[in-house]
Amino acid sequence: MTRARIVIGNWKMNPLTAAAATQLARAAGETAARSTVRVGVAPPALFIPAVSEALRDSKVAVYGQDVSWEAKGAFTGQIAAPMLTPVVTGVLVGHSEVRRYLGDDDERVAKKLIQALRAGLEAVLCVGEREDEYDAGTTEDVLAAQLAPALAALSAADADGRMSERFVIAYEPVWAIGTGRNATGATCAETVAAIRDSVVRFWPPRHASAAILYGGSVTPENIADLWSNGGIDGFLVGGASLDSSKFVAIYEQMRPA
Ligand code: PGA
Repeated sequence: MTRARIVIGNWKMNPLTAAAATQLARAAGETAARSTVRVGVAPPALFIPAVSEALRDSKVAVYGQDVSWEAKGAFTGQIAAPMLTPVVTGVLVGHSEVRRYLGDDDERVAKKLIQALRAGLEAVLCVGEREDEYDAGTTEDVLAAQLAPALAALSAADADGRMSERFVIAYEPVWAIGTGRNATGATCAETVAAIRDSVVRFWPPRHASAAILYGGSVTPENIADLWSNGGIDGFLVGGASLDSSKFVAIYEQMRPA
């Protein structure tokens, strides 16, 4: 099976101005023109229209960082999937910072996933264990529990298999996010194999080929081992994606398998 080779830069709540966001986007657009990797950026919601406009003729896809679990209505502060559809390719759902700071649980993440896919977006479902869960050796159980409601919702909603073509998983160990401590290629491969098992268990085997990204302190210095040995299809990059030279140095190392 050939790997998809996807890299998405999650800018989180950075940079602070539309001008800086547009500049970062343009830099990504210029460097991505030379690459065969699928490159995406996820700017803060307020800057999505400006970033989309700046990247209009580029190969860089724009992603949202989050989406509402409801389609419309009285949900202050939320952004519905159909509002995003004209300006983005896809959206992250279930990022650990949204789970932690905004109270998303697995049920709500499953609803967000379906809203995004129903609106025609690509959806990147983020899963990952906390440090105490990793230390206790319960990573696989934790991930299976996070995946089960999402995969059940997906199997129920995806009658013709079309949604599954836009479904991506990002494995992001919480202990690796923004800590400078990344998973090794070998640990990542073990966990990714468990994620693929869960996908097969909770969802028809024909969909077991969903792309799986790794995220958590990804840098140009540590991706070689993860890319060669991690069993993944790409990366979700936080901090390093805010530095254009680091971002490009990451995906330039993603040679076809
Ligand atoms: P990081 O963030 O690369 O800064 O660790 C990754 C993420 O949260 O997606």
